[in-house]
Amino acid sequence: MKVLITGGAGFIGHHLAIYLKNLGYDVTCVDNLLRSSKEAINALRDEGINLLVADVTDYHSLSNALKDSRPDVIVHAAALISVTESFIIPDEYIKCNAIGTLNAARLGCELGIDRFIYISSAAVYGNPIKLPIAEDHPLNPISPYGLSKLMGEEVVKLYSRICGVKYVILRLFNVYGLRQPLNEYSGVVRKFVERVSMGLSPIIYGDGSQSRDFIHVTDVCRAVELSLSTKAFNDVYNVGSGRPISINELAELIISASGLNLKPIYEAPRAGDIKHSYADISKICNRLGFKPSVTIEEGIKELITAHQV
Ligand SMILES: NC(=O)c1ccc[n+]([C@@H]2O[C@H](COP(=O)([O-])OP(=O)(O)OC[C@H]3O[C@@H](n4cnc5c(N)ncnc54)[C@H](O)[C@@H]3O)[C@@H](O)[C@H]2O)c1
Repeated sequence: MKVLITGGAGFIGHHLAIYLKNLGYDVTCVDNLLRSSKEAINALRDEGINLLVADVTDYHSLSNALKDSRPDVIVHAAALISVTESFIIPDEYIKCNAIGTLNAARLGCELGIDRFIYISSAAVYGNPIKLPIAEDHPLNPISPYGLSKLMGEEVVKLYSRICGVKYVILRLFNVYGLRQPLNEYSGVVRKFVERVSMGLSPIIYGDGSQSRDFIHVTDVCRAVELSLSTKAFNDVYNVGSGRPISINELAELIISASGLNLKPIYEAPRAGDIKHSYADISKICNRLGFKPSVTIEEGIKELITAHQV
């Protein structure tokens, strides 16, 4: 089966490309490389995975780049991904994440693909009114990022109605793993690991009792693999661990894995931070046979070990 991954030189995209290649899939990646790390690009090159350069916001450049690739499935992971940045350049977020998805879905129809897998986000839910968050939770995004991902979901459903392409929408919670880029918008796991690896205390905003659902990137890859062949398509699934972890617990796990004697630094809470968020994963477990396989303890150990060598 030929799989095309947009955003394939990104954090999740390149892990997925390598994971699927190792399972025997014929994988091609497309990316504009603007937010890709050298590590991810090198990892793709080392694995001999084809990487095409095109921008999903430009239909003609995308179509031109993909005209010979004839994929059976498109996994659409290309996106701008920072909630904070989305308030600064909301128009860019809508363009990339909504129009980019429209272009990818439209092209998928033109290429006659069988299935479109859309990498969405728990940000489409907004502030949870019920925990754990199930797929039928109200969709009330509270950032331009969340809105742009929700617009992407609607675009995918529209193109399924227009041309009959099957779809699976995966709403990812907080993804972490090796080779996650470090920048001002990185997730909390990446930031804590970086500070602790330098012998510095992690910085917690608020009292640290706020909780999140952390899912290892390998488990995300497994969820996509299951989506490639499931008969339960044309549906939406949460991808999380189903286990809430407080930011205090996360900091403790990272500090204790490092073997250092550090105490977190507490700073003022950030405006708009959601208190608790974790996924109800019963739907993906029951219908797709998904089961998270990497515990947060194992995932943290892997990251700390990688940073110590
Ligand atoms: N990382 C998380 O915790 C998380 C959580 C929920 C959902 N997601 C979703 O997962 C997907 C992948 O996220 P990630 O963490 O790997 O982010 P990432 O920034 O590492 O990867 C995204 C990739 O898309 C590429 N890209 C961006 N705009 C593009 C464009 N216009 N044309 C072509 N390529 C473009 C970037 O260069 C980058 O390589 C995104 O759709 C994101 O919304 C991620």
